[in-house]
Amino acid sequence: MDKKSFFSVRYDLITRDKVIPYDLYVNSSSLANKQKFVRIYPRGDELTRDDLERFKKKYIQLYVSEDQRKLYMRSLVDSETVEDVDTVSFIKDSAIQYLHNVFDPKKEFSTDLLYETIEGCKDAVENMIDVLDDYSIEGLRGLIGNLSSHDFYTYDHSINVSMYCIKILRVLKPNATRSELVHAGLGGLLHDLGKIKVPTEILNKPDGLSDDEYNVIKTHPDLGINLLKDDPEMKQLEDLDLRIIGRVVHEHHENWDGKGYPNGLKGKEIHIFARICAIADFFDAITTKRSYAKVMPISEALGVMEKTVNKKIDEKIFKIFAAHIGYSKVKTTKELKMADDFDPCMPYSEFPLEEVKEMFEGEDFGKIRMIDDKGKRKK
Ligand SMILES: [Fe+2]
Ligand SMILES: [Fe+2]
Repeated sequence: MDKKSFFSVRYDLITRDKVIPYDLYVNSSSLANKQKFVRIYPRGDELTRDDLERFKKKYIQLYVSEDQRKLYMRSLVDSETVEDVDTVSFIKDSAIQYLHNVFDPKKEFSTDLLYETIEGCKDAVENMIDVLDDYSIEGLRGLIGNLSSHDFYTYDHSINVSMYCIKILRVLKPNATRSELVHAGLGGLLHDLGKIKVPTEILNKPDGLSDDEYNVIKTHPDLGINLLKDDPEMKQLEDLDLRIIGRVVHEHHENWDGKGYPNGLKGKEIHIFARICAIADFFDAITTKRSYAKVMPISEALGVMEKTVNKKIDEKIFKIFAAHIGYSKVKTTKELKMADDFDPCMPYSEFPLEEVKEMFEGEDFGKIRMIDDKGKRKK
């Protein structure tokens, strides 16, 4: 990220009546295409409501420098007056900026750039953990619905998956350490890292992919781990074990029954954070609005996911996830089943759902009279 650049800040999101932990700037250039930033208030001084009102009358826009982004982000998390949706929007924008460092095809990929991205993403994840602390999974889904979306689907999806991974680990292991939460969240944020190497036309295709295109998509777990392994020593970043993040990147499309990809790992051979990520990935793909796919209400989504336990997803994790989502029980209006080859990475204009007809096959319910469409009793 360019350390010499600045980002604009909303007046209502600036720390007030407290010591301000970042410097405030204005753009003093009168030329539209030029920028000259001048500091108007130093960090470490108390900024009052009146000061802000004065600034508001004088300046259309205030700015903070990029190298103080982390301080500004923290001030939002710590604030008692800023709404969570505004805080999470800023964290999301920041995570997108960091991800953009590596996902932007115009930038040349380097391991240093990747490490810089991971450091920035770690900061975003740390802040997410604190903001999302009081949220249920259902509450988080509501929050996600209120965030604006980016036209590059992978950014929104990665951030949502990261937030769900944090929440799922929290319900799975209420005493999870901060480091475990950070690794699970970062794994979620970077799980589709390998998609950097997949052409955007394929990623953003609004409908089914050809077999060849799908085979290209399916290489992303291998591509992702290769990017992380580019440095043979797998340099360790402060407080981070990249091998764990690497396992999420590599194993999030493995299935519980061994029929996933790329290596056909089975059951507990798959890292627990990758199993969590698979559930987060699945849930986000079917419940979050993507420009061209219909979304499912939570109750229906859970019903559909439940039918993949022990095949695609880990039963134990799913049960705890479903029990803590905010719904007391899994209920569906129709019994729906997702096609066995459903892949959250595939763009679908319609999900490959099938109605389950054979659910109670062979069961004797005694004499039940069926009611036809017109409400008449069938004999
Ligand atoms: Fe993926
Ligand atoms: Fe994904």
